[in-house]
Amino acid sequence: MKSLIDKLEIEHCLSKEEYTKLISGFDHDLSEYLFGKSRKIREKVYDKKVFIRGLIEFTNYCKNDCLYCGIRRSNKNTERYRLTKDDILICCKEGYELGFRTFVLQGGEDPYFTDDKMTDIISSVKSCYPDCALTLSIGEKDHNSYQAYFDAGADRYLLRHETADSIHYSKLHPSELSWENRIKCLYDLKSIGYQVGCGFMVGSPYQTADNLAEEMLLLKKLDPQMVGIGPFIAHHDTPFANEKSGTLELTLFMLGLIRLTLPNVLLPSTTALGTINPLGREKGILAGANVVMPNLSPVSVRKKYMLYDNKICTGDESAECRYCLQKRMESIGYQVVTDRGDYKPE
Ligand code: SAM
Ligand code: FES
Repeated sequence: MKSLIDKLEIEHCLSKEEYTKLISGFDHDLSEYLFGKSRKIREKVYDKKVFIRGLIEFTNYCKNDCLYCGIRRSNKNTERYRLTKDDILICCKEGYELGFRTFVLQGGEDPYFTDDKMTDIISSVKSCYPDCALTLSIGEKDHNSYQAYFDAGADRYLLRHETADSIHYSKLHPSELSWENRIKCLYDLKSIGYQVGCGFMVGSPYQTADNLAEEMLLLKKLDPQMVGIGPFIAHHDTPFANEKSGTLELTLFMLGLIRLTLPNVLLPSTTALGTINPLGREKGILAGANVVMPNLSPVSVRKKYMLYDNKICTGDESAECRYCLQKRMESIGYQVVTDRGDYKPE
């Protein structure tokens, strides 16, 4: 098995069978071997820098009904909220003072935020903070909408594809959502010129080692600038309430494989990873990740953006999260930097 990791380190790609073999047969020893290599590559490209992204969760209204997601429209127990443009600009001001040079506007698919409202918000943020990158994560839109946001100043877009397998996708989503459209959106975003992030949940219901191997091949094909992965964690008010969560070990192993497959990729160590283990985000960095995304949303709304149970950081002020993460990164020998943290092409 170690020889497969050596091969991946040199060739940055394996066959589906080889990836499956690694994913279905890894253990602690192999993980450590992998992380030694993934850290080396990560440090060659990005040194010991950790990029920070200020996450602003600006609406938890969602017209979709993804089976795993706590803010799905059928969850009547979620108290819904929207931030105003002024609220968002206040979050950005606080974030700027804390050293953030990337803001991520994330939300459910909320029809209230029409293209006109979104372009107004985007151009306002960009005119106040021209030296910052703006990332959107607001789901599936048509090409014209993506183009309008880009023209208004958005730089990056995160749209996890959730799974590389269309049949698996249909088990995680209602029939009105299709895998084909999700992938089309990613290609539209790329063709417009965004820095694009895709990604998937690890350990989602019905996922197999074969599916995870397909993930790696899809990543290679899409060649995104960012990949967001985190463990699936059950939410008690969803149809998947009783499903098992993804594990720390498998998520870390996948992070290591992604770093060797796409050496330059921007790879977050996610909040979900920090939720399943108190040192999850540190371990994610040590497995090859190079981004963390502290929360900049007002504390008053944090608990309402509950995608899964026990989500961390829901009671902390933005400054607390920012400095908490700085300390955590320093404790493992890495440094949070004040930088847009753009993708470094090869
Ligand atoms: N609406 C946008 C979209 O669909 O891309 C962005 C918001 S969506 C809630 C952000 C991500 O949260 C999803 O892509 C999904 O991977 C993740 N997520 C949702 N429910 C989750 C759960 N139960 N466990 C782990 N991650 C989850
Ligand atoms: Fe809203 Fe899935 S239910 S993004």
